[in-house]
Amino acid sequence: MKRVPVAAGNWKLNKTADEAQKFISEFLREIPSAPACEVIFAPVALSIPAAVGAAASSYIRIAAQNTYHKNSGAFTGELSPALIKSAGCRHSLVGHSERRTYFHETNKDLSLKNKALHAESMIPIYCIGETLQERESGLVEKILEEQLIYGLEGVEIGEDNTIIAYEPVWAIGTGRVASKTDAQDAHRFVRQVLERVYGGKIAAGIRILYGGSVSPENIGELIAQPDIDGGLVGGASLKPETFAPITRAIAAKPN
Ligand code: PGA
Repeated sequence: MKRVPVAAGNWKLNKTADEAQKFISEFLREIPSAPACEVIFAPVALSIPAAVGAAASSYIRIAAQNTYHKNSGAFTGELSPALIKSAGCRHSLVGHSERRTYFHETNKDLSLKNKALHAESMIPIYCIGETLQERESGLVEKILEEQLIYGLEGVEIGEDNTIIAYEPVWAIGTGRVASKTDAQDAHRFVRQVLERVYGGKIAAGIRILYGGSVSPENIGELIAQPDIDGGLVGGASLKPETFAPITRAIAAKPN
């Protein structure tokens, strides 16, 4: 089955509302009409309304970088799926490695977030990936399987309601991209686990994005891999001049 590729930018803790707006206007000048891929940007929460405004009536979708799993209550400092949805988001990142590392989010926490997003008909972009130490100890498949099984426990996955992002932690922000073979092997393994748990149809339809030092130079060989359906891009998503060529390369993925 045809999987529509995805070019997603994770802006992390960057870009004020004005900067987000300016970026989107510039990006729409670079790529004025809808490319043959989905294009999603995840600004900081306070810049979401400006980004949604700038992207209105265009093909660009705006995502949150994180959410709590409850919609209201005594949870100081948190955001909810209902709130980010009402701000105009259809997607939210879940379990980015920076959230797992610095904010101690566990697979169990992330399954609650994935479920809470689905309850609002939102699409989690669920991030998984091993550390360098885990890779060097031969634990890649064990870690990915745990993150998939426990992070998606009780989550009703369909091919369109969830996106997976494989982001090896050692490749994020380091300039050290996974080789196309290592990336493809990990993506194939993720699809196999999904097939075992959710069946062939869902596994064949779900999008699996690669993240970690994606650049205009390396996206071509990554996106050519059969199980890589797009990119989740940090540093190179901050400038239209680097993210536009990445988007074009992703959109050019052959069927
Ligand atoms: P990077 O970040 O492209 O800067 O490596 C990717 C990510 O953290 O999603």
